[in-house]
Amino acid sequence: MSFSLTELFEMMTEADLYTEYKGVYLPKELHSQESLKYYEDFTFRQDDILIVTYPKSGTTWMQEIVPLVQSEGDLTPVLKIPNWDRVPWLEETRAHVLDLENRASPRLLATHYHYNMMPASFFIIKPKVIYVMRNPKDVLTSSYHYYGMASYLVDPGTMDEFLQKFINGKVMFGSWFDHVKGWLKAQDLNHIMYISYEEMILDLKDSVSKISNFMGKSLGCEVIEKIANHCVFKNMKQNKMSNYSLVPAEFMDQKKSEFLRKGTSGDWRNHLTVTQAEYIDAVYKEKMKNFKDIFLGDL
Ligand code: A3P
Repeated sequence: MSFSLTELFEMMTEADLYTEYKGVYLPKELHSQESLKYYEDFTFRQDDILIVTYPKSGTTWMQEIVPLVQSEGDLTPVLKIPNWDRVPWLEETRAHVLDLENRASPRLLATHYHYNMMPASFFIIKPKVIYVMRNPKDVLTSSYHYYGMASYLVDPGTMDEFLQKFINGKVMFGSWFDHVKGWLKAQDLNHIMYISYEEMILDLKDSVSKISNFMGKSLGCEVIEKIANHCVFKNMKQNKMSNYSLVPAEFMDQKKSEFLRKGTSGDWRNHLTVTQAEYIDAVYKEKMKNFKDIFLGDL
């Protein structure tokens, strides 16, 4: 019996595709033992700008905004450098070949790590963190599509099956609830800016302005407007340095689902049944009971 590559990928399980590291699953394809060790030993600088997210919460969006704030609206970096090199993930296999030690300050960096996974130097140096969070029902919906198109992730199965894994943290980078709670409870809040995907959807200009203030940049209205205009979903989607069209289809099959897929808040309404949505609401209410008003409007 012979199988196509697609059929083979669909049969892969968590044991085939993921490593367990500090209690969470990480896709083996993206994180070598060497890269995880590199991050453990990484030395932050106080003026590093670190974007922190649970996957599918707006990382790519922030990897576009932050370099543009830094370049004061000059589009060159985002039009010339792929997002994974301009704001690299510290836990990914590529990080240690990028010579980050010799990059000029402020370095723009990213991570999906939970707070308690961060390396020792983070807690001593306290670099600037921009923590982006997104409504978990939209994170679930976005993830469901992503797991269906990325060959290095376990096929999501039905939404009921995937929902269960998501709630139990049996997905890459573990539990959304633990991630958000861990970062909200960070010991020193002075070096962390919290922002939600929903806020950014509602008022991108205002969000860019808040981000630039946090980064210590005073940008005029025209520059803020230029950045927001470039980063609006339909425009950013055209940028081949950010839309993952450079990644071969055997890793990400964008015919199945585009990486920059929908770019809205509330798309969960089109993909979850009432029962599934109510189930997440109940879990959220229980797990997040000490964290009020994180998201604008309804969950
Ligand atoms: P959807 O799948 O809901 O469309 P991440 O970068 O953390 O993996 O998150 C990906 C999600 O952010 C996707 O959500 C993607 O479309 C959305 N996104 C990326 N750029 C965006 C933008 N400029 N505006 C709105 N959403 C954006």
